Amino acid sequence: MTSLLNLCINNIFIRLNLNEMIDQEIKNKLEGIKVEIAACTEEQKLKDLYASVLGRKGIVKDLMAGFRNVPNEDKKAYGAAVNAVKEEFTSILKEKQEEIVSQSNAKASKKTSEIDLMIPMETHRKGTLHPLTLIEDEVIQIFKRMGFSVVSGPEMESDYYNFKALNIPDNHPARDMQDTFWFINKMLLRTHTSPCQVRAIENIGAPLRVVAPGRVFRNESLDASHENTFHQVEGMIIDKDMSIANLIYIMKTMLSDVFGKELNVRLRPGYFPFVEPGFELDCSCLICNGSGCSTCSQTGWIELVPCGMIHNNVLEMSGIDPNEYTGFAFGLGMSRLAMMKYNIADIRVFNRGDVRELSNFDTFI
Ligand code: PHE
Repeated sequence: MTSLLNLCINNIFIRLNLNEMIDQEIKNKLEGIKVEIAACTEEQKLKDLYASVLGRKGIVKDLMAGFRNVPNEDKKAYGAAVNAVKEEFTSILKEKQEEIVSQSNAKASKKTSEIDLMIPMETHRKGTLHPLTLIEDEVIQIFKRMGFSVVSGPEMESDYYNFKALNIPDNHPARDMQDTFWFINKMLLRTHTSPCQVRAIENIGAPLRVVAPGRVFRNESLDASHENTFHQVEGMIIDKDMSIANLIYIMKTMLSDVFGKELNVRLRPGYFPFVEPGFELDCSCLICNGSGCSTCSQTGWIELVPCGMIHNNVLEMSGIDPNEYTGFAFGLGMSRLAMMKYNIADIRVFNRGDVRELSNFDTFI
C-alpha cells in the first residue's frame, strides 16, 4: 500500500518536473509541431516533421545534449521528461503514418477500380434519328442514285405557288381538298410540296429531274391517321418523250428499294388539277404480299402515291412548251411510308416528341 502510494507521488513528481524541466519556448515549438502532425496528409511532410523532433538534428537530440548542463539532482527528472517527449512523438508520428498509408492505399484501389473492366458501365441513353429523318434520307439517296437532284421551297408560300400556278385558280373547288392555314396578304402554310414543282421549273427549266422534301400543313382535326403537320417528298421529271411507263418504273424501283423487296404497283384514276391524267398509285401489300389481309382490307393493295402526268397548263404557265416536253410528278407521303416501314400505328407519334416512341428505329437500317 505504502509503496503504491510512493509510486503515485513519485509519478506526480515526475510529471510536474516534466513540465518544468523543459524550456517554455521549446514546449511551444513542440505543441506547434503536434498541430502540424495532426493536420498532415502527405508522407514527405510527415518525414520532415519527424526529422524536426526525432531526427539527428531534431529537438529531442538538442534536449539530450542539454542533459550535461542539468544539475545532478534534476538529471533524473529531466531525463524522464525528455523520454516522455520522445515517446509521445514516436507514438503520434507512427499513428499518423499509418493513417496516411491507409488513406493512400484506399485512393490507389479506387484508381484501379476506375479501369476495372468488370464493373458494369453507366448507361447513357443513345440519341437516335427521328423515323421521318431516316426514311427521308433513305428515299433521297435512292432518288439521287437515279439521277435526281434535291431542291427545296419555303414552308410559308404564296397563293400563286401553292394553288394558282398549279392550275388551281381562285374559287376552284379543288382548294377545298386541302384545308389551308392562311396568313394575311394571301400567304399560307404550304399544303403540299407541289409548289416546289413550279419553283424548280422556273429556276431550272427543262429538262429536269428533281425531288423536293419538306414539311406541309393542313388544317385537319387530329386522329391516328390525320396530322396537321406532315412530310412529303415531291418528285418530277420533265424531258422529251416522258410517259406513264417511266412513272411506273421509277415508282416501282423506288418502293422496292425502300422496303427491300420486289413490289408490284398499279394505277387507279385520281384527280389533282395539276396533273392530267392523274393517278393514285397502289403497291402490293407489304404484309400479305398481295394475297389479302386486314391491313389491306383483303384487297392485296395499299394506296401509296398520288401522281400523274404534269398538266399542260402548269408547263405553259412556267414557260415550257408541252409539245416539246412532257413530264410526270408524284407526291410521296413520308409519314405514311415511315408508318408502313417501321410498323407505327398512329401518325401523331411523329410530332408528339416522346423520345421513347421515336427512338431505336435506326436499327431497321
Ligand atoms: N400534292 C398532292 C397532294 O399533296 C399530291 C400530288 C403530287 C399529286 C404530285 C399528283 C402529283 O395531295
